[in-house]
Amino acid sequence: MGKAAAETVVLAVNGKRYEAAGAHPSTTLLEFLRTQTPVRGPKLGCGEGGCGACVVLVSKYDPATDEVTELSASSCLTLLRSVDRCSVTTSEGIGNTRDGYHPVQQRLSGFHASQCGFCTPGMCMSIFSALVKADKEPGRPAPPAGFSKLTTSEAERAVSGNLCRCTGYRPIVDACKSFAADVDLEDLGLNCFWKKGDEPADVSKLPGYDSSAVCTFPEFLKSEIKSSVDQANGPAVAISADGWYHPKSIEELHRLFDSNWFDENSVKIVASNTGSGVYKDQDLHEEYIDIKGIPELSVINRSSKGIELGSVVSISKAIEVLSDGNLVFRKIADHLNKVATPFVRNTATIGGNIIMAQRLQFPSDIATVLLAAGSTIAIQAASKRLCLTLEEFLQQPPCGSNTLLLSIFIPDWGSDGISFETFRAAPRPFGNAVSYVNSAFLARTSGSHLIEDICLAFGAYGVDHAIRARKVEDFLKGKSVSSSVILEAVRLLKDTVSPSEGTTHPEYKISLAVSFLFSFLSSLGNSSNAPTKIDNPNGPYTNGITNGTTEHLREEYIKVDSNDLPIRSRQEMVFTDEYKPVGKPIKKAGAELQASGEAVYVDDIPAPKDCLYGAFIYSTHPHAHVKGINFKSSLASQKVITVITAKDIPSGGQNIGSTFPMMGDEALFADPVAEFAGQNIGVVIAETQRYAHMAAKQAVIEYSTENLQPPILTIEDAIQHNSYFQIPPFVAPKPVGDYNQGMSEADHKILSAEVKLESQYYFYMETQVALAIPDEDNCITIYSSSQIPEVTQGVVARCLGIPLHNVRLITRRVGGGFGGKAMKGIHVACACAVAAFKLRCPVRMYLDRKTDMIIAGGRHPMKAKYSVGFKSDGKITALHLDLGINAGISPDVSPFIPTAIIGALKKYNWGNLAFDTKVCKTNVTSKSAMRGPGDVQGSFIAEAIIEHVASVLSVDTNTIRRKNLHDFESLAVFYGESAGEASTYSLVSLFDKLASSPDYQHRTAMVEHFNSSNKWKKRGISCVPITYAVTLRPTPGKVSIMNDGSIAVEVGGVEIGQGLWTKVKQMTAFGLGQLCPDGGECLLDKVRVIQADTLSLIQGGFTGGSTTSETSCEAVRQSCAALVERLKPVKESLEAKAGTVEWSALIAQASMASVNLSAQAYWTPDPTFGSYLNYGAGISEVEVDVLTGATTILRSDLVYDCGQSLNPAVDLGQVEGAFIQGVGFFTNEEYAINSDGLVIHDGTWTYKIPTVDTIPKQFNVELINSARNPKRVLSSKASGEPPLLLAASVHCAMREAIRAARKEFSVCTGPANSAFTFQMDVPATMPVVKELCGLDVVERYLESVSAADPTTAKA
Ligand SMILES: Cc1cc2nc3c(=O)[nH]c(=O)nc-3n(C[C@H](O)[C@H](O)[C@H](O)COP(=O)(O)OP(=O)(O)OC[C@H]3O[C@@H](n4cnc5c(N)ncnc54)[C@H](O)[C@@H]3O)c2cc1C
Ligand code: FES
Ligand code: FES
Repeated sequence: MGKAAAETVVLAVNGKRYEAAGAHPSTTLLEFLRTQTPVRGPKLGCGEGGCGACVVLVSKYDPATDEVTELSASSCLTLLRSVDRCSVTTSEGIGNTRDGYHPVQQRLSGFHASQCGFCTPGMCMSIFSALVKADKEPGRPAPPAGFSKLTTSEAERAVSGNLCRCTGYRPIVDACKSFAADVDLEDLGLNCFWKKGDEPADVSKLPGYDSSAVCTFPEFLKSEIKSSVDQANGPAVAISADGWYHPKSIEELHRLFDSNWFDENSVKIVASNTGSGVYKDQDLHEEYIDIKGIPELSVINRSSKGIELGSVVSISKAIEVLSDGNLVFRKIADHLNKVATPFVRNTATIGGNIIMAQRLQFPSDIATVLLAAGSTIAIQAASKRLCLTLEEFLQQPPCGSNTLLLSIFIPDWGSDGISFETFRAAPRPFGNAVSYVNSAFLARTSGSHLIEDICLAFGAYGVDHAIRARKVEDFLKGKSVSSSVILEAVRLLKDTVSPSEGTTHPEYKISLAVSFLFSFLSSLGNSSNAPTKIDNPNGPYTNGITNGTTEHLREEYIKVDSNDLPIRSRQEMVFTDEYKPVGKPIKKAGAELQASGEAVYVDDIPAPKDCLYGAFIYSTHPHAHVKGINFKSSLASQKVITVITAKDIPSGGQNIGSTFPMMGDEALFADPVAEFAGQNIGVVIAETQRYAHMAAKQAVIEYSTENLQPPILTIEDAIQHNSYFQIPPFVAPKPVGDYNQGMSEADHKILSAEVKLESQYYFYMETQVALAIPDEDNCITIYSSSQIPEVTQGVVARCLGIPLHNVRLITRRVGGGFGGKAMKGIHVACACAVAAFKLRCPVRMYLDRKTDMIIAGGRHPMKAKYSVGFKSDGKITALHLDLGINAGISPDVSPFIPTAIIGALKKYNWGNLAFDTKVCKTNVTSKSAMRGPGDVQGSFIAEAIIEHVASVLSVDTNTIRRKNLHDFESLAVFYGESAGEASTYSLVSLFDKLASSPDYQHRTAMVEHFNSSNKWKKRGISCVPITYAVTLRPTPGKVSIMNDGSIAVEVGGVEIGQGLWTKVKQMTAFGLGQLCPDGGECLLDKVRVIQADTLSLIQGGFTGGSTTSETSCEAVRQSCAALVERLKPVKESLEAKAGTVEWSALIAQASMASVNLSAQAYWTPDPTFGSYLNYGAGISEVEVDVLTGATTILRSDLVYDCGQSLNPAVDLGQVEGAFIQGVGFFTNEEYAINSDGLVIHDGTWTYKIPTVDTIPKQFNVELINSARNPKRVLSSKASGEPPLLLAASVHCAMREAIRAARKEFSVCTGPANSAFTFQMDVPATMPVVKELCGLDVVERYLESVSAADPTTAKA
């Protein structure tokens, strides 16, 4: 074979032809789309297949059948070369500003389903793909006009692989369901298409859907493909000049292997390349062999003996094939449906998965289920073909890179006497999470329940590959199932399942394996003539949930798994016209633009000429001299252009990366000592962002710890070394009363109990990003995704040693902030600025997810030790709190955290309150503000204490809560001026509305009933009140009316998804409304809020603390008032001449008369009203699986006092989104660090934010407007952060459920040795829950039933 010229990749992107000649074979489709085409809809959110931000539709054309097949795919994992002759459709391709939006985009927008918008194009494409798939499926009945063939349950699963950190998913699901043929439109939530409750829902009011409207494969490409068929059939050119090989037969592949054109380290065999999402730190490869073009590997053969699947058959295709088979096949298909995400399954191959399991110890589900089903595989090693059992293959040493997996054969077991079951326990029920443990069991039983044969496979528990539990199998063969037999089997299993050293949660994993085996064997034994009746963990159980309306207490008894319950919701709110269009639930400004992918984020700005890219090299050592930076010898290292370090900071500049005004600075680069793991040491500069990232991974840092103290990593270390940040007196929280006196009045005391909370990562979908462009005269323009442009401008100026007016910081929109795009965002802006200054060219840095997670910092972890005194009737008389807060290396906002903690804790009247707070300085990344900083922990600690008191007194927790809620008098004592007026104190009525309602009483009784009739699932219900103080800060606003009447508005706040621009638009229209005949509604479409620019509008302050929207609105209102004053005389004079005056005529006249049409205001708060309190209450009901520790949130009802909402749709979105983010904090987001403090849960694989399958199955929100208060902006209240605290209700409900489990099984682990009193730290992940329920409950249970039944002989 000779070398051929580089082949040109041809593809269509949104109908347009593109050629990619000479692209490096490792180029991903996403990289190509974003850098070589104008397309920006697909976003980079993770680069590992775990977030869905990059989803596109890939269409293939088969010239033989003239058919087009479409599938969604993650473009971050798909290699460009593998989509040669394909058509790619992105969100811009289905609809856009110029050609009109697609109904998916319009409905996402109309259902208020886009906030920051960064996830929205990916959501759009997942929904669009689901519609295409359903509508094309043959045999489905035609849907009613305006609908698709999609079903509501498919609609819920359509976005199961897409992450959204803002919305809480409910509105996204509603938008998707609106297309489903079987939807009841009345069930859908708040939207812009009909006024819920007042108008009937009707499909004709929705943007019309026509399944054939979008052409996914252009004719020109079909013709090109047809004409190239002959060529493809000609002699194959197996060798390419650009490193991409696509053999057409196995022989050709072997000729390639046998040739010596490449060495094993630089060549990679790929099927669909999704494995690169798993092994993402791998070096670059120069050459790729794509095996998908080998026809033999795509076979699907079905016979009476079984099903053979070629190795490159995709998981989705395998599901399709297996679903149409007998029990074993169908169960495998069900299990495969939980593997990865829809857009990964569509391309990922079965063979790739098996190879990863065999060669790379991947904790595969597929290997486990296929192992249990007795599968065999065919491989070709060198020229030898072998057929092996899967077990033999897995047991072999890792296969070499020239071993080719040809096919997998799954035997047909028939259904006679066959039982087959698969299990997986994972943080998310429907996938997008690898399992803690998976297993699959196959048994053949005789009529008398005798086990004739059995196969037990277990995987992912900390083992190199899935295994069969042979000893247990041997023991079980020939036995009838009884409790004592199961008990013995379980004991044997515990000797077999032994997680390797270093495995996380080993005991939990063993207990899961036990639970799965128990479940399976019980199902075999459970029938009327089974020897011993065992409480079947799989059996149907009463799933009584109320329907969510307080009016109807109708029960529905559904015998389905709670995870499969449909998502339902209810929203209630009060609208008023008083300040219209303020107060209307209008849709978010620019929502369609976000959905179509045209909204521009920093990484979407086209690269300026000569732009270079940077990636951080960070320390992995917590305290060490940095002696040198070298690079491993690797392909990626060759891409390094230079490395920027502290030495490159211009003279006159400072090594500063961030500052919190009045608190202190943090360095940009470690120099000369790295003070924490995750600290920036330098920036690798390369030609592309991907090269920069990959090269940075190859850096090897030389450290020395000579003459350095050991690092201080924990709160305990810090206390031992007196390592603290001072809390300035003006931010220190104030104690209340006399603690000792209060304690002396107590009848009971709890002394020194402890509760712990871990950190939380922001997980904004857009990672930190900045683009710095040097300008004339030592000036620089920086585009930054920042919540604090003004502070960033100041730090960049100090870093470069230039005046502030040389630095222009521009922020248009931020793809999610939550506090994280403040301090750490400055570091990125500064690093870009230093590099751009040094290199005299533009430099962009868009952090990869891993680096972002490592440097971000996040929420403050803390420990609280409390001593509390209380009366026998539950009235608390005194509380003392010892708080240890791990602040990390720099003060950041940490000195403010104690006040926030104590502020939220004061929601209860503790009688007398004292505390000692320590803000610990440690050698870990600086912790910063994250949505509800300090408040969420404080509110939770309060609940933990209240619950502890209740458990000591053995009374219902709500009784204690209610007893200790403030009256207005004590509220004023605890909160001082922030308490405001008595009429605004709504917390007691909110709490009573929920907790004293007949519905709640009824549900509590139902929960008790459920718990008494179900052994292996337990429920809990809990109601939590919250109080949240917010502070008002000075904010600027500027309103400029153009000559044509259009209006440009600038505000201090930044649009981070919270709906700021939408409210500002409404306020502008209201503010200028007096000049319009219709009161201002006509102005809504004329207002454009423009990007923050620190040289245009100064003193912008920061966006955070929940009050930026209202203060920006107030500044705008004042600006409008100035304009109204100027324009009124013009209006009056025109009216005198011509009657009613239209807006445009008024402005034209004013412009002619040289009226100043721009006004600016700097709003400052009333000195007597600098802060106010927000109130809410939430009930959550959960179900805990005692066997696995999994929790399903059955229902959450939130009531939030939003004052007179400026926009109820926006506020509702904030409430729902914040709550779900809180649910993540309390339940699933495990922020793990290693012993050096380096973050190790550093991607979507290990850090699990909520997905659509983990939100409440019934999610009800009510916004109420308690009382007017003219001192608040149009009587509104904040909504951004406080509702997050309500998520503690889920944690509390989980504890109730766990309590029921502990009671059932007499589990008394924990310091109190009591079933009722225990602490559950945050987050309460599955292992934590299971441990509290009892890791050994199965054995306990089996022992008790075996002992109780003397007829069951021990085996
Ligand atoms: C986000 C995400 C979530 C996932 N979740 C799960 C999960 O929950 N459970 C689970 O089991 N899996 C999960 N996976 C793994 C997934 O199933 C595999 O990545 C996929 O099946 C690999 O197929 P591929 O075609 O992309 O392989 P590739 O990435 O192309 O290849 C993977 C490896 O196998 C080699 N290879 C591929 N095919 C062959 C062959 N025929 N012969 C020899 N070598 C070959 C390649 O050289 C490479 O080393 C997940 C993956 C992702 C990205
Ligand atoms: S960026 Fe591709 S899935 Fe996250
Ligand atoms: S709107 Fe989904 S991540 Fe922001």
